[in-house]
Amino acid sequence: MNRAQNAPSLPKLSPNLGLKSRNTFGFEVCAEQAYEITDAAQIPELMQAIAAQNLPWRVLGGGSNVVLPSTLPGATLLMNITAQEIVSADEKETRIAVGAGVNWHEFVIWSLQHDLPGLENLALIPGTVGAAPIQNIGAYGVEIAQYVNSIEAFDTQSQTFVTLANADCQFAYRDSYFKHHPNRFIVTKVIFSIPKAWQARTHYADLAKHFSTGPSAQAIFDAVCAIRSQKLPNPKVIGNAGSFFQNPIVPNEQYETLLSKHPGLVSYPDAPGTRKLAAGWLIDQCGFKGQRMGEVGVYENQALVLVNHGGGTAQDILGLAKCIQDKVRNDFGVSLQIEPNVY
Ligand code: EPU
Repeated sequence: MNRAQNAPSLPKLSPNLGLKSRNTFGFEVCAEQAYEITDAAQIPELMQAIAAQNLPWRVLGGGSNVVLPSTLPGATLLMNITAQEIVSADEKETRIAVGAGVNWHEFVIWSLQHDLPGLENLALIPGTVGAAPIQNIGAYGVEIAQYVNSIEAFDTQSQTFVTLANADCQFAYRDSYFKHHPNRFIVTKVIFSIPKAWQARTHYADLAKHFSTGPSAQAIFDAVCAIRSQKLPNPKVIGNAGSFFQNPIVPNEQYETLLSKHPGLVSYPDAPGTRKLAAGWLIDQCGFKGQRMGEVGVYENQALVLVNHGGGTAQDILGLAKCIQDKVRNDFGVSLQIEPNVY
């Protein structure tokens, strides 16, 4: 085959690109070299060039789950593959292949418009489809892991495209195989499997109180949007990356001891022998909610969300995060893990 005719051109290099509008914290960030990826076929040659120069690199999706420093050295790949198609449909399920650069919320809207309910509990989660499986996004009792058939990615170790089946992804709470192999895979496409059989999931108290009888998927979508808009700051208005800490999972004995000392402790069932604690409650109890530290702070309606009031930096946010982690460890003996990826 004639390469010149069939291979897409290498992505365009943008030197010293400002990324303030491409990270939801709204930090002033400058990428030394930025490349917009619109086609997976652009990746192998680009990654070869990056490896040959020994450059550091990373992929940026929606920039909604990252803490970026003021300068991003080396190459930053801006993921913008947006192809999307239904690949198969039968009486059991519909499979949809979605480019990594598609906006997650837009995809949820699209799925409901095409009468493919299932993802409605995950409405209004910021970010891209490609980033979603990496941290296994979840909300109101649903995780994306339940709907992923497989993932296509470029493996920079073998320099080949690979397909990972759902089981290969090792999904767990806010966790996946990709998180344990940072800077190895570039997710290009997610293949979703949406079962025909649908059931409303409204067991989360926050959601349940919106309905008296069995709601439609659209009604759940609307309710989730309403709850999230009220609880979580709109990144376009106030910089943030959603939950800044994971909800910590502790052994049952530790949970029982904590509960006897703090009867108001909020927690959720987890795997046998463990309990998941509401990190927002722990942080709130420490008095951080609504507090400000220079240009950054803790959101006034949800203690789990750290915000940039404008002019804050990654250093400021990490400084505040450390204060919170120290106090929660001191008061409750619990370690909080930072949820977004820190670069
Ligand atoms: N709480 C407080 N004070 C606060 C915040 C929370 O006391 O300031 C207590 C409340 O009792 C509340 C409980 O903690 O009922 C849990 O809070 P919430 O329902 O807001 O959920 P969450 O555990 O804080 C998790 C996810 C969210 C997801 C919601 C709904 C994590 C780290 N966060 O939050 O995900 O939307 O459940 O399912 O698991 C995200 O990952 O960015 C995110 C927003």
